[in-house]
Amino acid sequence: MTLAELEEGKKISLAEIAAAEGADAVEALRVKYVGRNGSIPALIKAMKDVPKEERPAFGKAVQAWKKEVEDALAAKGAGASKAASGKVENVDVTRPGIWPELGAAHPISKVIAESARIFSRLGFTVADGPDIENPFNNFTALNTPPHHPSQDRSDTFWLAADALLRTQTSPVQIRTMMQNKPPVRVICPGRTYRRDTTDATHSANFHQIEGLYVDVKPVSLADLKSVLSYFAKEMMGDGGVRFRPHFFPFTEPSVEVDFRCHVCKGAGCKVCKQSGWIEIAGAGMVDPRVFGHVGWNPEEVSGYAFGFGVERIAMIKYGIPDIRWLYENDLRFLAQTA
Ligand code: DAH
Repeated sequence: MTLAELEEGKKISLAEIAAAEGADAVEALRVKYVGRNGSIPALIKAMKDVPKEERPAFGKAVQAWKKEVEDALAAKGAGASKAASGKVENVDVTRPGIWPELGAAHPISKVIAESARIFSRLGFTVADGPDIENPFNNFTALNTPPHHPSQDRSDTFWLAADALLRTQTSPVQIRTMMQNKPPVRVICPGRTYRRDTTDATHSANFHQIEGLYVDVKPVSLADLKSVLSYFAKEMMGDGGVRFRPHFFPFTEPSVEVDFRCHVCKGAGCKVCKQSGWIEIAGAGMVDPRVFGHVGWNPEEVSGYAFGFGVERIAMIKYGIPDIRWLYENDLRFLAQTA
């Protein structure tokens, strides 16, 4: 490149910078001319090929070009962010920092942990069982005959003739009684599976907490009532509970347990379908035939059992209108229940 060509290049570059509009355009020209791979550093590198006697004048001209381009760029506001060139300038130390996002327990985990805490004060420990069960534990021992609709292929995920995804946490009752001697006092939180079509209030995979208390001294429905009333109060506040007669194959008598609607306090609203109550659990006195299935003598022991839906409690407690929100892991949602 001759000195004249160099002079011409300088003119063009200065004209381009003068005409540039916007920070992006100025930055693009900075990169083009003085960036690490820009044309002026390339000329400096190529200096060794310039004949020795011309080198000083050429060098001077290149340095002058560089300075003028830099001044022109600076006048245009380039360099506000010098990160690319490795220099840090204009750091505003008064700007707020970037807060790390803190994780939080999922509402389902929170309800399970809180339940375990409440029942532990009443002497309950936590028992566990597998998600894949055999039909004996899930149905037969719970006094549910083969023709019962819950055994139907359209209700239960059967994996094989002798294996299924448990439809309830009640089989953990059977496991607990078969592995222990009375008295037993356990709760069993866990996943359950049903062939339900997912919508705002149904999911094919949900959670339950089972409870079982069996003793060699007489246990009554009043004991069950007091324990569930205490739980309701601790979990939901002072609303109140009511027990309605119901039927379950593995309890006799059986009840359904409603909590007073926390939204309208019983006056009637959309959440409780104007009834003032929300169904939370099934419960009852363990059926003597269940004791028979696990080899316990129904003349010697008595007890109660209950099972409630974790999602249902979470939805009420945190005012969640759609069960699917609990499985989508949208951080905007999870942050609100944290
Ligand atoms: N397993 C029942 C269900 O999924 C709930 C239930 C009802 C559990 C009564 C119990 C009980 O332990 O005693 O609908």
